[in-house]
Amino acid sequence: MTHKIAVLPGDGTGPEVVAEGIKVLNAIAGPAGLKFEFIHYDLGGERYKRTGEILPDSVLKELRGFRSIYLGAIGHPDVKPGILEKGLLLRLRFELDQYINLRPVILYPGVYTPLRDKGPEDINFVVVRENTEGLYAGAGGVLKYGTPDEVAVQESINTRKGVDRCLKYAFELTRKRNKNKKLTLVGKTNVLTFAFDLWERAFHAMAQSYPDIATDYAHVDATCMWMVKNPEWFDVLVTDNMFGDIITDLGAMIQGGMGIAAGGNINPEGVSMFEPIGGSAPKYTGKNIINPLAAIAAAQMLLDHLGEVKAAAAIEEAIKTVCAKHLKSLQAGKMGYSTSEVGDLVAQYAIDNLK
Ligand code: IPM
Ligand code: MN
Repeated sequence: MTHKIAVLPGDGTGPEVVAEGIKVLNAIAGPAGLKFEFIHYDLGGERYKRTGEILPDSVLKELRGFRSIYLGAIGHPDVKPGILEKGLLLRLRFELDQYINLRPVILYPGVYTPLRDKGPEDINFVVVRENTEGLYAGAGGVLKYGTPDEVAVQESINTRKGVDRCLKYAFELTRKRNKNKKLTLVGKTNVLTFAFDLWERAFHAMAQSYPDIATDYAHVDATCMWMVKNPEWFDVLVTDNMFGDIITDLGAMIQGGMGIAAGGNINPEGVSMFEPIGGSAPKYTGKNIINPLAAIAAAQMLLDHLGEVKAAAAIEEAIKTVCAKHLKSLQAGKMGYSTSEVGDLVAQYAIDNLK
């Protein structure tokens, strides 16, 4: 089966790590009986600087024709923060209606976690972050700009339909996982009484249709505390866009850092986009020292999403082996291997796993 994948290497270390992901996909293609066709798109800070274009409508139109996009990183030191993030990353998420941001938090054996008393049996959960609404919707404005009386308003949009489709995805995912079938709603019902009242009512209403799933609720601040103190309590967490953004950076740290954290921007019926969740890491660019595992894990999620579960599992096992047997650290420059060597290792183990 041939899979056509749009590749957006983007900025900074994005192209380096995406190259390793593609290396691994190409390596397993034969043994897994798959074919990949990669179509590269030049988007990001360099193109913006050169041409002023961020995401031309013609490119967006082409991207709508794919099922999957493989993204490296967005963000350029010479471009004011917000321009590329809003104009490219968030625009893609919104235009392609990728309403789920799926972020697994898994600690692999041999990987360093700052949580001294916790191990791989404790850190294995997934965050389902709503990805098209909330504070990210861009609602609001500024009054009396630049004056001492300035007022900036940024509103959180929470539609019942948007919340329901996110919750439905989370309930279904919880049902499919082999943990304790527990779904935790993360919110702030004690303060954000309009938004999270809607989330809570929708959550309880939907729970009626999932009697096999245990439901729980935690405030977002307490969630940060539990993620550090008792991460083993979590199976699936579902939350809004902003809270999901924040708690998944914390999640990335307890699973070993940005070197391994991957995510998927998912539209189950449309075009989904997979990415390492760390940024473009300008200071490591071009040095062949950045950790490509997060990008390789994103490629693994992409395959899983396409239904290629065997090939995806072979890559996941290979990542685990490389973590357990080879890397001294997951941090850039401290791995004991270069970026491309890590890619070679994963590719080789993944091939072996398919034999
Ligand atoms: C992420 C990033 C983005 C977000 C930024 C770069 C716009 O932090 O993917 O988590 O806030 O969603
Ligand atoms: Mn983030």
